[in-house]
Amino acid sequence: MATMLSLPVELTARLTQAAGIDPELRPATRPQFGHYQTNLALRLAKAEGRPPREVAQRLVSQIDLADLCEPLEIAGPGFINLRIRADVLARVASQVLADPRAGIATTASPQTVVVDYSSPNVAKQMHVGHLRSTIIGDCFTRVLRATGHVVIPQNHIGDWGRQFGMLVEQILDEGMDVGGLDLAGAEALYQRANTHLNESDEFAGRSRDRVVALQAGDPETRRIWQQLIDISLAGFNATYQRMNVLLTDADLAGESIYNADLAPVAEDLETRGLAVVDAGALVVFVEGFNAPAIIRNAQGGFGYTCTDLAALRHRVGTLHATRLIYVVGTPQTHHFEQVFAVGRLAGYLPAGVLSEHVGFGQVLGTDGKKLSTREGNAVTLNSLLDAAEAEASPSVALAAIKYADLSSGLQKDYTFDADRMVATTGDTGPYLQYAHARVCQILRKAEAENYAYSEVTVLTEPAEQTLALTLSRFGEIVDLVAETLQPHRLCGYLYELAGALSAFYEQCPVLRSEGEVRTSRLALCAATRQVLAAGLDLLGIEAPDRM
Ligand code: ARG
Repeated sequence: MATMLSLPVELTARLTQAAGIDPELRPATRPQFGHYQTNLALRLAKAEGRPPREVAQRLVSQIDLADLCEPLEIAGPGFINLRIRADVLARVASQVLADPRAGIATTASPQTVVVDYSSPNVAKQMHVGHLRSTIIGDCFTRVLRATGHVVIPQNHIGDWGRQFGMLVEQILDEGMDVGGLDLAGAEALYQRANTHLNESDEFAGRSRDRVVALQAGDPETRRIWQQLIDISLAGFNATYQRMNVLLTDADLAGESIYNADLAPVAEDLETRGLAVVDAGALVVFVEGFNAPAIIRNAQGGFGYTCTDLAALRHRVGTLHATRLIYVVGTPQTHHFEQVFAVGRLAGYLPAGVLSEHVGFGQVLGTDGKKLSTREGNAVTLNSLLDAAEAEASPSVALAAIKYADLSSGLQKDYTFDADRMVATTGDTGPYLQYAHARVCQILRKAEAENYAYSEVTVLTEPAEQTLALTLSRFGEIVDLVAETLQPHRLCGYLYELAGALSAFYEQCPVLRSEGEVRTSRLALCAATRQVLAAGLDLLGIEAPDRM
């Protein structure tokens, strides 16, 4: 197959060559301005001290883009408008159709990317924060893999720490069979243990001793701990399956795997003089932070921060990651900033490795308040899936939730309004699924008559041209998401594509047209189906053939 022509890449290269500077090509803001626009002349004019329209005039007469564009036009103070030739748009749309990847390009500089996501806690049900982390992280994984990066998901589950002391003690006190618990049962146990701990000093003391036994590898303690993990994983995996996410047991990298690295990390930091003992604790003072990073507390315990430093060292040193992404709620921003700062000081995070904490906003109820149960607890992830499934089929319900989660800036809160989210009209996941199903239906009819189509050849109507142009932009958008980690750009693009598709249906009959126009329009439909399906897949959303 001929290599896919990327219009903005090609145009940018040609304009840069002609003008000597990056044209900063932008999609045109209005159809009458053509398809792309550049302010090249305005910037050059400033540097040259000449009138912008004159500079634009000169550029237009110098630059030869006749093989791609209609004659260039100058607009307003000196913008240059580019309109892609219909035959070129047709060629690109045909290429999208012929390309099994629908125009997604493979990066020239593949990276090894660790994506830390989902990361629920053992003996607790996944809650709404884990819902967002799981959906967002899964989308990143899909987009980065599609663009040719090696992604190593790391599910940093909370499977270690002080809470296991009280959990194991409570289990022994109650003489219960842990193997028979489900995750909700384990969470109830957690609450009983917590109450017990607050009420009894004697129990608290035993729980502390039990933590020591766990760390020392006491077989009985380890056995019960492992049982807690097993039942929790069964619950997590059932949820992952329900959510149709990529995570598997192979991606598990819980806190416990770093246990043996904690003391060496502390020692490394201390011997190199980066960490100091302060009020009995081993800490690192980092400039710009009010409180130091606690590596080892005064009781000799290693906590969340030290574990994340060990994880950082492992991810860079052993997994050879060149990019690290942590998809964890915004309340942990400070934690990650501090971990990254210490990591840089210690060299665990070398200059060439990009490390990003991607936080996200809260999920709000229809009352505009943070979602919580009547008792004021965080809502479980499964109850949200249930709520959406009460309104629609599982596939549609999931599309609704994932799209609502990804379609506005990640930092923004969003309202969990199941009724609105499952609507097949408006900017929703089900609307995009519906657009896909509808185009499938048209193609099914053509296929039923054995009508062959393979290329887009005729693009006379503006609605056809807009659709083809939109299709040609898919690859750029996916690249942009891989770089900026902003899935809402892909959502916005797909919504625009579905809009272009419905405008096309309105203005251009497909099955009722004839001859080459019919063949070409069917091919355009098929290319659109391809991009919608590929785009939805990157969001982790199923693209059903019928709805
Ligand atoms: N288990 C933590 C929580 O539920 C999230 C862990 C995030 N990842 C990390 N490397 N700290 O809040």
